[in-house]
Amino acid sequence: MSLIPQDFIQELLGRVDIVEVVGRSVQLKKAGTNYKGLCPFHSEKSASFTVSPSKQFYHCFGCGAHGSAIGFLMEHSGMSFPDAVHELARDAGMELPRQEADEGEQRRAAEQRSHKARLREVLQQAEAFYRERLRASTRAIDYLKGRGLSGRSAARYGLGYAPDDWQGLAKVFPNYEADLLLQSGLVVARDAQGQTLEPAQAAGATVARRYDRLRDRITFPIRNSQGEIIGFGGRVLDRGEPKYINSPETELFHKGEELYGLFEARQAIQRHGQVLVVEGYLDVIALAQHGVEHAVATLGTACTPEHVRKLFRYCAQIVFSFDGDAAGRRAAARAMQAALPGLSDERSVKFLFLPAEHDPDSFVRALGADAFEREIARARPLSVFLLDHVGEGLALDTAEGRAQAIARSRELLASIPESALKGQILHDLAQRLRTPADELRAALALQGGRRGAASGTSSTGTAEGSRPGIGRSGGDGTQGSFARAKPAEPRMQRLSRPKVDHAHTAMRILLAHPALWRDISAAQHDLLVAHPSSVGELARWLESYLDEHAEPTPSSVWEALRAEGLLESAEALAPAELLERDASELQPDLRGALESIEMAWIKQRQQALAAEGLADPASRLEYQGLSLRLRELMRSLPRL
Ligand code: UTP
Ligand code: MN
Repeated sequence: MSLIPQDFIQELLGRVDIVEVVGRSVQLKKAGTNYKGLCPFHSEKSASFTVSPSKQFYHCFGCGAHGSAIGFLMEHSGMSFPDAVHELARDAGMELPRQEADEGEQRRAAEQRSHKARLREVLQQAEAFYRERLRASTRAIDYLKGRGLSGRSAARYGLGYAPDDWQGLAKVFPNYEADLLLQSGLVVARDAQGQTLEPAQAAGATVARRYDRLRDRITFPIRNSQGEIIGFGGRVLDRGEPKYINSPETELFHKGEELYGLFEARQAIQRHGQVLVVEGYLDVIALAQHGVEHAVATLGTACTPEHVRKLFRYCAQIVFSFDGDAAGRRAAARAMQAALPGLSDERSVKFLFLPAEHDPDSFVRALGADAFEREIARARPLSVFLLDHVGEGLALDTAEGRAQAIARSRELLASIPESALKGQILHDLAQRLRTPADELRAALALQGGRRGAASGTSSTGTAEGSRPGIGRSGGDGTQGSFARAKPAEPRMQRLSRPKVDHAHTAMRILLAHPALWRDISAAQHDLLVAHPSSVGELARWLESYLDEHAEPTPSSVWEALRAEGLLESAEALAPAELLERDASELQPDLRGALESIEMAWIKQRQQALAAEGLADPASRLEYQGLSLRLRELMRSLPRL
């Protein structure tokens, strides 16, 4: 990612003091071994932002923001990575090493960076072209005027017009054949069979036909949170299908993470302590034009947990706005699912359903900003929406209806992190379902069995067997001879549910406390490093990292992950939440997760061996060995 050598970064992190760096912009008070202050990344009244001198790491319990001193400068002052490193190095009196002729790896990283820079440049040139074409097209201008848009709004959001021309962009890019145009998503390529080539396959492919993706459309540049253009949306002027075309996924543009209008809205979001999530480009622009400036839009996709995580970094309240029809309610249900893992007692999520004839754009134009703000104030809290959703279409006055509602709520509740809010939701749900709260909790824990994203974070998280209901499990008798081993039932039951991702649990603990790597058995080690998900990649990386760093701190681990391009997949596991807990406390969780992975693998392997008939002595021996190990693992279960 950068040409700055990792050694230098690690040394730098050892020399700077994060308390001093953060303390320049946040008022910190000593609290035990740590320092506390008001979080600069979300609005709050009581301090949940902590800085740890021993870990050289900051972490906010409220919004989840976290990172090293370098990360702080990047997030807080909006610096680029090299700028943040330069600034810290200057303060620490360290001289940046000359950028020597580099290893292949660093060269590749540098190439990728400059490739992305070229892509951004291409998009920027296209934007200028589209803007200029808008000025020249009375038809396009009339369309925007007809929709009530001011020239100022059009300029602020960089609106443009893509002319009705198959290769209009050839005017800006004389080399229309350049791979870069395909990789940026601006140009569509088809091969001789008429198949569309995705931007990622573009380099060097044989292309039969190329043409501008956006033709005769209003263009909406999509910016990332730094304000750089990463893609475009395009709307037809008249009727026509599809109404909108968006850039495809490219190296720069990931729909599941980006939000339209976030760059323009960030300050308003922080000011309000709230973000409004709407569905369309024009909703965002019309709202802003009328003074509701804290709206963003998803980009023609459902809201993802990444979107939610990102938004909670700016404020503690998300209000989703949806159309009042059935499709709107379905979209709201999906948004709710995406939001649940991010909930906490400091955060809230609400749902706004506009009258059926309106979307935010038409509403604010017809009734004004005040009326819209009143709608926001009336938005349904997530707790209420969840209950409505769970009971929708069911006859809750019958036992059958209530049982179905319990089934529906199981997964939803499992993904809410342990919190007072969760307790309240359970309480309300219990009332609505006329079931004592304890019984409901038991019913949900019993068959849900999933601790989801919250896995391991609850303070009682290790005592699986002590959870209500589990001990009373009757077992479903499908586990063969293991069903007789009483204490094992809950675990086997959990095993049969693929949603419990033990590999993720193990990896997030290991990333937060790499020293626990020592506790892994050889077999478990092999399963982890060979894991076919990001877990495998992270495990391989962590192992090699530990070879070279005897006593890693979170800040050095995070920066090394960043350098390796692995920070994103690591962050997806949310390891930072575990930093505040002692390694010794997490050890049983790690062990449980690893043993579950191992047991699942043993069962799989045994099945495979059995399927082959266990004909030769070697496979019989292996089978027996596995049975022994399985029994050993089962015996250790009660301790967990
Ligand atoms: P809507 O169809 O609700 O349109 O799509 P809208 O924003 O109200 O558009 P106007 O007011 O008719 O211009 C909402 C969003 O869904 C995505 C776009 O991001 C759009 O802004 N969308 C919609 C697509 O990606 N493709 C489509 O064909 C339609
Ligand atoms: Mn609309």
